[in-house]
Amino acid sequence: MDINDSVVLVTGANRGLGRAFAQRLLERGARKVHATARRPETVDLPGVEVLPLDIADPASVRAAAKAAPDVTLLVNNAGIQTGADLVTGSLDGVRHELETNVFGHLGMIREFAPVLARNGGGAIVNVLSAMSWFGSRVPTPTT
Ligand SMILES: NC(=O)c1ccc[n+]([C@@H]2O[C@H](COP(=O)([O-])OP(=O)(O)OC[C@H]3O[C@@H](n4cnc5c(N)ncnc54)[C@H](OP(=O)(O)O)[C@@H]3O)[C@@H](O)[C@H]2O)c1
Repeated sequence: MDINDSVVLVTGANRGLGRAFAQRLLERGARKVHATARRPETVDLPGVEVLPLDIADPASVRAAAKAAPDVTLLVNNAGIQTGADLVTGSLDGVRHELETNVFGHLGMIREFAPVLARNGGGAIVNVLSAMSWFGSRVPTPTT
């Protein structure tokens, strides 16, 4: 992937890995970085274009695609970990995690795929977890 001259949108760019991605992308030759966050006022990087974006809110995702029609590289970084156990944990916690980490990322892909296509192609980077390569045993319930 050629970062040079790319126009990148990074989700969750206000802290953690997302902030580091946005910073490095600028240093490595991206023409523009749309640094997005649920609370845009928390983005503190110089040189980026700041946009509000909650990936779990379809209206917010649509608005971001309208506001950033020049994107050629999407970095789907925003994510949460509630720690909710799939079997015994709160279903609301599980739903919240899926709405963000699965449907949030998917919503971004669906909204930005046409944007990338209009700009001649491009790439989508989905930031996942190494845990996605592993299966884990659910402990046998004791009676
Ligand atoms: N760090 C690791 O060791 C590790 C390991 C495996 C996977 N990952 C994955 O890597 C990505 C970044 O991890 P991190 O460690 O940098 O996490 P982090 O420090 O907890 O940051 C998470 C980022 O996602 C944003 N976010 C959460 N929900 C959002 C939503 N609905 N809409 C928009 N932004 C939202 C947060 O914004 P707020 O500030 O508004 O909360 C924050 O900017 C995540 O997808 C995570 O699952 C990280």
